Amino acid sequence: MYKKIGIIGALGEEVEELKMSISDPVITKKAGMEFFEGKLNDKNVVVVKSGVGKINAAVCTQILIDTFEADLIINVGVAGSLRNEINIGDVVIATDVVNHDMDATGFGHPLGEVPNMDKTYFEVNEKLLSKAVEVCEKVNTDITAFKGRILSGDQFISDRAKKDWLIETFDGYCTEMEGVAIGQTAWLNDIDFLVVRAISDKADGSAEIDYNDFKEAAIEHIVKLIVELVKEV
Ligand code: ADE
Repeated sequence: MYKKIGIIGALGEEVEELKMSISDPVITKKAGMEFFEGKLNDKNVVVVKSGVGKINAAVCTQILIDTFEADLIINVGVAGSLRNEINIGDVVIATDVVNHDMDATGFGHPLGEVPNMDKTYFEVNEKLLSKAVEVCEKVNTDITAFKGRILSGDQFISDRAKKDWLIETFDGYCTEMEGVAIGQTAWLNDIDFLVVRAISDKADGSAEIDYNDFKEAAIEHIVKLIVELVKEV
């Protein structure tokens, strides 16, 4: 069992309900972020809004590890679907995560590979992944839970051609802006991580409108999953 779970969302909406579910939280401010520490379903957790993008997420993860001694980091939030069968509201749980905007091909590295780390895909612990899928299917019977590769980059994807390129290049299930920063930082610190994302849009020309219309409803599935999952890991 993990001793303390750090839960990161990039946006206020992505963590608001989880923060409110902690009774008598202790709030600590660091790097412009507010860390809400306490019990969620009897488990020690720290819930925090990191801000958008990979740098914010990496800084936040390192603080959770160093200052709060979290031994599992879970990234929650929304994402754009990269597969026809994955619909708005569905949940994708990462098998692995990749920097889709890492390009050192000029030095002979494959797209996505972090030079000198010889690493492209950061993998999730298989037991943790299976547990998350099992819990998601139990608590969210109205949607489909997928497990697959999640792509991250400092880009909101809202263009069909870019979406097609991402699919061809990395064969991902969905795309977002933080997951790999959390996965890579966790890997560097030798601790476990999980990325769970609800689909808010299709990462194409309609992404901006769908994102605004559906992100809050989509995140409800993640909240249900996390409240149950923290008890079981
Ligand atoms: N988060 C939600 N939708 C997204 C998209 N289309 N691109 C990047 N991040 C997202």
